[in-house]
Amino acid sequence: MSLPAYPVEAVPSPSGPPAPTPPGPATPAPVEARPGSTAARGHLFNGGTTARYRAVLADGVGRVARRAAGVDRPFTGITPAELAPRVSGIDLDRPLGDSTAALDELDEVYLRDAVWFHHPRYLAHLNCPVVIPALLGEAVLTAVNSSLDTWDQSVGATLIERRLVDWTAERIGLGPAADGVFTSGGSQSNLQAMLLAREEASQAAPSPQARAELLPRLRVLTSTAGHFSVQKSAKLLGLSPDAVRTIPTDAQRRMIPAALRREIERCRRDGQVVMAVVATAGTTDFGSIDPLDEIAAICAAAGVWLHVDAAYGCGLLASPTRRHLLDGIERADSVTVDYHKSFFQPVSSSALLVRDRRVLRHATYHADYLNPARMVEQRIPNQVDKSLQTTRRFDALKLWLTLRVMGPDQLGELFDEVVERAAGAWELISEDPRFEVVTKSPLSTVVFRYLPTGPGRGLADGANLYAREALAASGAALVASTTVDGRHFLKFTLLNPETTLDDVGHVLQLIAEHAGRYVHERTTADLACRVG
Ligand SMILES: Cc1ncc(COP(=O)(O)O)c(C=O)c1O
Repeated sequence: MSLPAYPVEAVPSPSGPPAPTPPGPATPAPVEARPGSTAARGHLFNGGTTARYRAVLADGVGRVARRAAGVDRPFTGITPAELAPRVSGIDLDRPLGDSTAALDELDEVYLRDAVWFHHPRYLAHLNCPVVIPALLGEAVLTAVNSSLDTWDQSVGATLIERRLVDWTAERIGLGPAADGVFTSGGSQSNLQAMLLAREEASQAAPSPQARAELLPRLRVLTSTAGHFSVQKSAKLLGLSPDAVRTIPTDAQRRMIPAALRREIERCRRDGQVVMAVVATAGTTDFGSIDPLDEIAAICAAAGVWLHVDAAYGCGLLASPTRRHLLDGIERADSVTVDYHKSFFQPVSSSALLVRDRRVLRHATYHADYLNPARMVEQRIPNQVDKSLQTTRRFDALKLWLTLRVMGPDQLGELFDEVVERAAGAWELISEDPRFEVVTKSPLSTVVFRYLPTGPGRGLADGANLYAREALAASGAALVASTTVDGRHFLKFTLLNPETTLDDVGHVLQLIAEHAGRYVHERTTADLACRVG
């Protein structure tokens, strides 16, 4: 079923007479259509098509707003088998010709069955609801379409990104020589950090041959709860398949510093070179924060690069009450922050920060057509000199408008709220005899599982997997799953301040019902077999 068309202002037909200029402050006079205009040209965004631009976007925004307002569950439960034919049945070589029809169609293939992160019972992955000033930023940045590679394509955008990099580095406490760059996400930030660390470690190799001999001996140490992008980065950077060594964690899932020290010594004895330690400030599953101060001291003593992956925990940088949980982060050589996780920003919005801006030269390549070396002498600020990407979105604008409208304290308050809610959820689950809960997170995840009793005692793994799938199929709530010491667990990631403890209690009840049904069916089937 398609939504009724959203009332829009008249749009000029590319071939018909121009529509009246919409009311609004200081609307510039429409640019006269150039001779030879075609229907295709009428779709280009320019001074002559602003009425169409306003109308089309208003229609799209209106539909999203009405969908969002009508969402009564985070998901419809649609399966790939049901949805795929709708998408594959569309003939991309036969355009619909106008955006109203295209939006009607989009409703069928996307909006109607989308997973809505703003719903209070979306408790699955590290996806936050987004703040409206950031959505405004998204609309502005895509229309202007600045590309953050060179000054001559971005001008003010370059300066805004630089200010935000400085602001973030100051919040971390990286010192006066700090710098950084926005990236597409935590994985890319981690990859770039590992590239810089590899290149710094390779400074010790004076010749290409020495470098080739060093490469297979490089090691990266991270905890068993570190993010998989560390492994992926090592592979992309040509390190040996066993380059990433995992350090055990304590009962709170934090890296054990003594074990890190031992591993660094062992690597040295074995002729391996530790090129980086990756500490995590907010592990994906447990929200645990490695002991950053102790790890920084070990790295400093060993002369090893310290990267802190704060993709998740970076929200604490804005927290009015919990910033101390990140103490020690200021001693890092590089830091990953994901504004699209805990700063309530839309995907994508992330940055890599470094203590010493000179290390960013490892990401620099001067192309004659784009950023020739002479531009450095002319002090032209080309962000491409620091980035793995060339053409790059002006994602920083979203954070800029967020800070200019809300300020950091309000953002931090939102994050504080979800951390408090997660603590409440942990209490709730730990007091509920139907469940077993793992470590209490300093951030906003809760890992737990349904524990069957009696004859179904051995069915916990199957029951929890089933409960998660059944819940998703119903669409009533979405939760994540993970394994802990080889057993299947469920996970709440709370990033929505609108989620109440009542929501949590309701979802737990649904999980218990689904899991209980699974156990009941299995045990009665077993009994029937035995009797039969
Ligand atoms: C700790 C951590 N680091 C890195 C990443 C990767 O971030 P992204 O998904 O933005 O690439 C994640 C994603 O969940 C994460 O939790």
